[in-house]
Amino acid sequence: MPSVTKLAGRISKSPTIAMNDKAKQLAAEGHAVIGLAGGEPDFDTPAHIIEAGVRAIHDGQTRYAAPSKGITPLLEAIADKMERDNGARVNPMTDVIVTPGGKLALFLALKAMLDPGDEVLIPAPYWVSYPSVTTMVGGVPVTVPTSSDDNYRLRLDHLREFVTPRTKAIIINSPSNPTGHVLSSEEIEAVATLATEADLYIISDEIYEKLNFDGRPVVSLASLPDIADRVVVINGLSKTYAMTGWRLGWLAGPTSVMGAAGMFNSQTATSAATFTQIAAVAALTGPQDCVEVMRKSYEERRNLMVSSFNSIDNMSCPDIEGAFYAFPKVDETSKTSEEVANTILDKAVVVGVPGSAFGISDDAHVRFSFAADINLLREAVERIRGIADQLA
Ligand SMILES: Cc1ncc(COP(=O)(O)O)c(C=O)c1O
Repeated sequence: MPSVTKLAGRISKSPTIAMNDKAKQLAAEGHAVIGLAGGEPDFDTPAHIIEAGVRAIHDGQTRYAAPSKGITPLLEAIADKMERDNGARVNPMTDVIVTPGGKLALFLALKAMLDPGDEVLIPAPYWVSYPSVTTMVGGVPVTVPTSSDDNYRLRLDHLREFVTPRTKAIIINSPSNPTGHVLSSEEIEAVATLATEADLYIISDEIYEKLNFDGRPVVSLASLPDIADRVVVINGLSKTYAMTGWRLGWLAGPTSVMGAAGMFNSQTATSAATFTQIAAVAALTGPQDCVEVMRKSYEERRNLMVSSFNSIDNMSCPDIEGAFYAFPKVDETSKTSEEVANTILDKAVVVGVPGSAFGISDDAHVRFSFAADINLLREAVERIRGIADQLA
């Protein structure tokens, strides 16, 4: 019997998906579980986008999309959006690739940039998929720790310590999953300086760009003219338009990277679904008030999560600047983040994801998504308050 690759043995299932599965299993067994492990909006896709997709199916838009890298109206809508929202100029016909989801866009970007053994700087806490996808394409993930006491700030001197002759890229995610941190202009400057002096690509994952709170500006790294030729933006519709199941993402950046990524896209996915792409044009060019309605609702839930966690003895939750995750920690504890998450699961029947999944080991953090009904969130926090003395 032949065996699968050694590489496959080094990739594990996404911990967020694994915890989500655990929540579903507990619910199926009859437990009153509150599952806050996933990273999925609880809204329905806005009606005008659904209508555009359904109409496209009825109109026979069910064949292969052409060109494979994305239908022209969508490529143009993405380039227009990047100019309008992000101050970034890309040529729609050469600098954008549409993919079935942002995760594949990340895969294709890394596949296009890395030779085996090339290193990628990944500031932690990070989205769980960055190291796995880097490993999958033969790269070496290098974790750059940041600290909650320092508001997860990226500092140039600290970043420099992790650069070697094999460093090829750095992955930036603002607003961040799991911390919600939005990069300040000083941090953006630090990343730009690092990339220039060490000759790196920057992968800028902007999937939560529309979910920012208190009017905090989200600046795209692609808007900086001096480094635009080394920035690849990852984005998609999953979070902004509540379209996780439609599978629509893109990458945009230098023509050379897009040429390679486009080839890999056409030889794997072929293309994103044709009718999904037509719905995506409706999302990007249609009314945007639905985005603001959802953002406001997340902001209200953010307020609840921050104030509630901070009112629990021995727990703290710094302000959350964007995205839809709370990342509180137990202040004084002998437990690891896994032990804390498991105690919360066993005693409060609330499912979160331990901080260790996001590349940090020193503090007992747990990530809870607040893309859930606000009454459910209230109950989840009260259940955790009720067992908080068991978390120390
Ligand atoms: C930081 C980040 N980037 C990218 C993605 C990819 O989303 P999708 O593949 O649904 O577009 C996610 C999804 O959870 C995410 O959290």
